[in-house]
Parts: sequence; C-alpha cells; structure tokens
Amino acid sequence: MKLNVYEIIEKRKSIRKYKNTPVPRAVLDRVLAAGMHAPSGKNRQNWRFFVVQGKKRDDYLKYSQKSWLGVKDVLQKRLKPSLYEFTERFFYTLGGAPVIIFCYSLNDSEERYHTSIGSVYMAVENMILAAVSDGLGTCPMGAPLEIKEEVDKFLGIKNISTPPGSELELLCGLVLGYPDHDPPKAPRQTEGRIVWLE
Ligand SMILES: Cc1cc2nc3c(=O)[nH]c(=O)nc-3n(C[C@H](O)[C@H](O)[C@H](O)COP(=O)(O)O)c2cc1C
Repeated sequence: MKLNVYEIIEKRKSIRKYKNTPVPRAVLDRVLAAGMHAPSGKNRQNWRFFVVQGKKRDDYLKYSQKSWLGVKDVLQKRLKPSLYEFTERFFYTLGGAPVIIFCYSLNDSEERYHTSIGSVYMAVENMILAAVSDGLGTCPMGAPLEIKEEVDKFLGIKNISTPPGSELELLCGLVLGYPDHDPPKAPRQTEGRIVWLE
C-alpha cells in the first residue's frame, strides 16, 4: 500500500546498513527527478548531483575512512560506545550501500549564499523522501566536508565547466540503497522548537 506523505516523513530514518542489492537505474532516475522538483532561490535549480557506484564507490571508501578522523572525537563524546563503534564501521564500509550521491551547489553572485545552499538541501530532502517511497534507505553525510578538496579531486570537479564567477561547492553525500536493518527512530525533541506569534 502506498504511504501518504506524512507517513513517508515519519517512516524516514537514517540507514547505516544496506543489502547487497543494486538499485535499478530507473529508480535512481526517479529519485533524482524528485530532487529536481524542489523549489530553488530565483529558480536557479543550482543543485548538481554526482552519482557514484561500482568501482568508483569502492574507491571512495578510503576517503570515507579519512573523513572519520575529522568527526570521531566529537562523536566519541556524544555517542554511547556501542553506537560509536557502529558509526565507525559505517564510515569504513558505508554500510555496504551501493550508491553515493554527492550533492553540490553551483554558487554565484546572483544569489545569496545561504539561499543557494538551502535550495540544494531541499532537493536532498525530496530525494530522501522519494527513496523511502521506493523502499530505499538513505543517510545524508556531512562527513565528506571534512575532506572537501579531496572529494572535489576524486570526482573531477575542476574539469567541469561552470559559468564565469560561479563555483561548485560540496554540501553533502547521500548514501543510498535497500535497508538491511531497522534501527529505532531517533526521538524527536519538540520543546522550544516552535514559537507562535499573533
Ligand atoms: C546535514 C546532515 C549531515 C549528516 N552527516 C552525517 C554523517 O556524516 N554521518 C552519519 O552517520 N550521519 C549523518 N547525518 C545523519 C544524522 O546523524 C541523523 O539524521 C540524525 O542522527 C537523526 O537521525 P535520523 O536521520 O535517523 O532521524 C547527517 C544528517 C544531516 C541532516
């Protein structure tokens, strides 16, 4: 049975263990198309996606392992030891996910920086929800930002031509595949999050 949008939003949670099942190209196309239905500042549609699979995905693992070094100290303070170890393993293996989508913003002086960034993240959330609808799991990853320049090189960003005065900026990775675990949903905190004014 098809879930409605509220059910999809509630069902979504970050997945860090994936089945060894490839994601069909038609499904990936659908998820990416959902991303590109997002709103964007001045309708610039400034998202750029780099879809990494196969050997290239395997090659990325050593970068993911390196990005762990940038986040491990903070996580050690925040997570209980078993979760810390699980997360470390996730960075080393990406949970076996067959696909990583690197999400970039094409920034230029025609749009405020934060609006450009926000537009891309809206597209990312669209993709995350579309993925749930297709039975997929995802985990957005800020960790690649720890090694931004290296990821740019790995993807060949320099060789991509951009209009004068604009540049591509990495915002996150989105790991994607068929879930192989069902973790508990992280509890939502509502206190102090909303202010009503009349
Ligand atoms: C911008 C952003 C960056 C994130 N980066 C990482 C990451 O590098 N590694 C990771 O395991 N999870 C990452 N996450 C996932 C969060 O840890 C997760 O969303 C949060 O713990 C709430 O859990 P839930 O997604 O299951 O609701 C990121 C989430 C966001 C929105």
